[in-house]
Amino acid sequence: MVCRRSLGNNAPLVWGPFRKLGTLIRGGTIVTATDTYHADVLIEGETIATIAKRISDDKHRVVDASDAYVFPGGIDPHTHLDMPFGGTTTIDDFESGTRAAAMGGTTTIVDFALHTRGDSLANALRTWHEKAKGKAVIDYAFHLTIADGRSETMAEIPKMITDEGVNSFKVFMAYKHVLQVDDETIFKTLQTCAKHGGLVQVHAENGDVIEVLTKQALAEGKTEPKWHAMTRPVECEGEATHRAIRLAEIAGAPLYVVHVSSAMAADSISDGRKRGLNIYGETCPQYLVCEFGDYERPDFQGAKYVLSPPIRDKWNQDVLLKKLKNLELHAFGSDHCSFNLCGQKDLGRHDFSKIPNGAPTIEDRIAILYEVGVNRGVLGLNSFVALGSTNPAKLFGLFPRKGTIAVGSDADILIWDPNATRTISPKTHHMKADNNVFEGMTIKGRPRYVLSRGKIVADGNIFTGEKGAGKFQKSARFFPVQL
Ligand code: URP
Ligand code: ZN
Ligand code: ZN
Repeated sequence: MVCRRSLGNNAPLVWGPFRKLGTLIRGGTIVTATDTYHADVLIEGETIATIAKRISDDKHRVVDASDAYVFPGGIDPHTHLDMPFGGTTTIDDFESGTRAAAMGGTTTIVDFALHTRGDSLANALRTWHEKAKGKAVIDYAFHLTIADGRSETMAEIPKMITDEGVNSFKVFMAYKHVLQVDDETIFKTLQTCAKHGGLVQVHAENGDVIEVLTKQALAEGKTEPKWHAMTRPVECEGEATHRAIRLAEIAGAPLYVVHVSSAMAADSISDGRKRGLNIYGETCPQYLVCEFGDYERPDFQGAKYVLSPPIRDKWNQDVLLKKLKNLELHAFGSDHCSFNLCGQKDLGRHDFSKIPNGAPTIEDRIAILYEVGVNRGVLGLNSFVALGSTNPAKLFGLFPRKGTIAVGSDADILIWDPNATRTISPKTHHMKADNNVFEGMTIKGRPRYVLSRGKIVADGNIFTGEKGAGKFQKSARFFPVQL
């Protein structure tokens, strides 16, 4: 029995006189990071029980995947939910943020728990567990940020990895007086992580130079949003990326460079890899779609694009896309950090440096990668799955429980209709923000169903998940992976 439009509430596991044993995904094309083939998928409980050419449906509830792809659910390695930042707090919390993620085809997020200088990592992690518990609709894991290089902080890292299931630690080279740390802290974090199986993530921009340029611009009366980008020139990202990679090289540590926005930074990563280093790079949808000219939109609309590193000149988009194709960049994160234009971004109406940095991107991450990558013929389907799901799962210790379609893996599945279309708009998106940097873009392809541990959480445009159903996922310790 095929039932495309009545599965939404997940309830009818018992139909008529017959008890339905499992959920059968019928007739789709399974796509993993390595394989593409036609087969049925049988889910029992929360995991995948059988994958076979044809599975009899009489005992099972059937989910129609005909003419559709069966992808592993997306894994978003970079989100900021319910995070105090820029004088305000990101507008999406763990409920609205994960709901929007699910509607876009993501089934696991890895969010950043913010450490505060002088406080413990344990406390930071506890705070983020409290924010997520009872709210998240899909599964989640955590990264920790590192705010200081105190010996107490470094001493906590091994426990975070072995006992708490956090395998990655982000250091900021920018946001002076707020999140920025010095090279000593970065180097100590690299050494500690190298020894204990952690992966250091770096926000690579030279915060000291940005601080000088920002003060100079404001003193000259340059206050509009575009000055956010003009005071964060690409060389600031290039220099910091190069410096971070060299520090990792000295420490003998792996490194993951988050939100790479430019060819210059991406080239540094390629150079490091040519020297045999375990350097990984992530880019984000906004860097493949938006361009510097967006800052010059009238009526303060340019503020939507105030995020860091900033949006670059258009030609960088193609370079980043090619680096994704050639696996010189390895993961696709949203860097979802959502603010309303009205009441949040407008804190900086008369001073670009007061505009909270970030954009709402969690919902459209998969769609943008598919449209710009697959539909435009640059990425194959397997690369698309690798970048949006499998590689983040491998890097952040969730594979093979997450990030693939295999017997025994969690039944986190995205059934993707490649023929349906959708136009992105803040009027219809599920994120709380009143703006969307991809507004107006039409995407060919959209989720038909999204399943989180066997439960349908998105049925087309209808959310069918449950607040609090998402569970914390411990990350295994990091080991260098061949992606
Ligand atoms: O502008 C951004 N990217 N905001 C989020 C914080 C960060 O640096 O990742
Ligand atoms: Zn950052
Ligand atoms: Zn971020």
